[in-house]
Amino acid sequence: MSERLLEVKDLQIQFGSGETAVRAVDGVSFSVGRGETVALVGESGSGKSMSALAVTKITPRAARYGGGSIRFDGEDVLSMSERALRSLRGGRISYIFQEPMVSFNPVFTIGQQVREALKLHRPDRATLSEVKRLLDRVQLPERLARAYPHEMSGGQLQRCMIAMAVACAPDLLIADEPTTALDVTIQREVLNLLARLTEEEELAVLLITHNFGIVSDLAERVYVMQRGKVVESGQTEQVLTRPEHSYTQALMAAVPRLKRSGGHDGAA
Ligand SMILES: Nc1ncnc2c1ncn2[C@@H]1O[C@H](COP(=O)(O)OP(=O)(O)OP(=O)(O)O)[C@@H](O)[C@H]1O
Ligand SMILES: [Mg+2]
Repeated sequence: MSERLLEVKDLQIQFGSGETAVRAVDGVSFSVGRGETVALVGESGSGKSMSALAVTKITPRAARYGGGSIRFDGEDVLSMSERALRSLRGGRISYIFQEPMVSFNPVFTIGQQVREALKLHRPDRATLSEVKRLLDRVQLPERLARAYPHEMSGGQLQRCMIAMAVACAPDLLIADEPTTALDVTIQREVLNLLARLTEEEELAVLLITHNFGIVSDLAERVYVMQRGKVVESGQTEQVLTRPEHSYTQALMAAVPRLKRSGGHDGAA
């Protein structure tokens, strides 16, 4: 058993070729330990989502892997068979994305969809009682099993996404801007839920966000990305209080400092 659950080394992903090629991920390395929450931050287009999608090779068809390695629990993901990748996706590694609505099929009830998620990897547990237990885990009333996606709020749908993501007891949850589309108060509730679940289930999380407040609340370590590269990384507290790279400093300067009004701001 390897110590690091996920180990990405010198990953290269590009779109197109020749002079017009875009190096979306340009030699990126990062790791996530078992049960650890790690954040990727950086401006739009810096390669965060591509790095995250690469972990189970669900990058867009046009993406080309130019080098580097991805090891999950010691296994080389980039050379896995399609079958092995399918069992990894949603089994040991699951995702939640920004827009919960697009992840649901409008013609099936929530209960049916949670059950489908179970059927893929845990067919023995694809029962109505397990669906209800999962809804309860994310603090949703059981009756919502009979609701259709359009009958639910954004926050409720995101809770359902989380229920589906943890249905098969994954080792790693990859959350790509999980709360960006939600109201601020609902964001907080969903983040608290995530924090609680990750602790209870010893789930490792790769969290992508633009929000440094979320980083400091949830992540033990952080990687700062710019134009396809990691420019700074370290313990969250250290990176956020003493950013060394000018890009990290600039990113943080762009964040409204609400805490400052209380005269309580650790950063100089
Ligand atoms: N299908 C595609 N075809 C061509 N280029 C793409 C494609 N998808 C992404 N890219 C490029 O890859 C780079 C990295 O994109 P990525 O989605 O990883 O950024 P990101 O850091 O997640 O940004 P955001 O914060 O906006 O989500 C960008 O330059 C983007 O234009
Ligand atoms: Mg993205």
